[in-house]
Amino acid sequence: SWVLSPNLSTCHQSLGRAGLPVYCCPPKPESEEPVTDFQFPDPSSPLRTRRPAHRVDENYISKYRKALDIMKSLPYDDPRSFMRQADMHCLYCTGAYNQQVTNYPFNIHRSWLFFPWHRMMMYFHERILGSLIGDDTFALPFWAWDIPDGMMTPKMYLNPPFTNHRRDTSHYSKVVDLNYGCEKYSCPERGLSSQEQIDYNLALMYNHVVSGAKKMELFMGCPLKAGEAGFCDGKGTIESAPHNTVHKWIGSGTFPGREDMGVFYSAARDPSFYAHHTNIDRLWEVWRGLHDNVNMTDPDWLDTAFFFHNEKSQLVRIRIRDVLNITKLRYAYEEVELAWLDRRP
Ligand code: C2O
Repeated sequence: SWVLSPNLSTCHQSLGRAGLPVYCCPPKPESEEPVTDFQFPDPSSPLRTRRPAHRVDENYISKYRKALDIMKSLPYDDPRSFMRQADMHCLYCTGAYNQQVTNYPFNIHRSWLFFPWHRMMMYFHERILGSLIGDDTFALPFWAWDIPDGMMTPKMYLNPPFTNHRRDTSHYSKVVDLNYGCEKYSCPERGLSSQEQIDYNLALMYNHVVSGAKKMELFMGCPLKAGEAGFCDGKGTIESAPHNTVHKWIGSGTFPGREDMGVFYSAARDPSFYAHHTNIDRLWEVWRGLHDNVNMTDPDWLDTAFFFHNEKSQLVRIRIRDVLNITKLRYAYEEVELAWLDRRP
């Protein structure tokens, strides 16, 4: 058997959504760059503590603002630039690379690659931001949409540079619907009062992290392996909701894919993407704590490898086994009360 990994020399045009070809390949082929294997940060380096976006102070926001402004000003040639960061998501989520050996389009959604790949993306993104302002304690915030205090769009995302021109601004005054659904291009509002929506959300969280996610595949998604007919297609509980649903809820209803957040090729162009995904990443940790009998030991999963640029613009090969201990990655989450833990419907 061989390791599941993208073949960097195959980068090609892909499909952003029905009828929309997109090209998000790096300007200089990555296959011509030297590759280094991932190394853990120095164990004595500071632990970056990710905090809920609704609780951060003006001092933190101005640091993040400065870092993001610099990142947005870098040229597209620079892999640390904001558009190149956003296009990492386009590359790995629209099938722009083919897999090694089988040549089947490589896609990290709808399978057990979902959590670890996004963890890597947040890890490198956070360290790049920190390095741009010379702050090795810098940590991304997380949008704690799973607890009542965090269920509205965090205020910091209503001001530049954290805004985005393609959003459903009618949702700014509402409690998020963690189960926001779309059929074709119509996404009806649930029409609940704020309190009813909060209760609805807490029950959904209980179901998708606790009662409905007792087995590995239910939560993590189906086991995608190299060479097995090319793909499996089964997203885990959290990936379907709140993950997909919050993406749609943020994106603008005047665009066919609810761009930017509503569709893979453009989602990471919205700064709120990163706060959405740090919360997803945090919930992976929460789930592991609640179901400590679920051990992920399959070598096919552990050895699956991806490529990212680090804060020194070096191309790094990183495996899933490298990202299973967040303390070794030198970051942590500020604890928030798990308001949904006792919300058995
Ligand atoms: Cu790769 Cu939130 O999507």
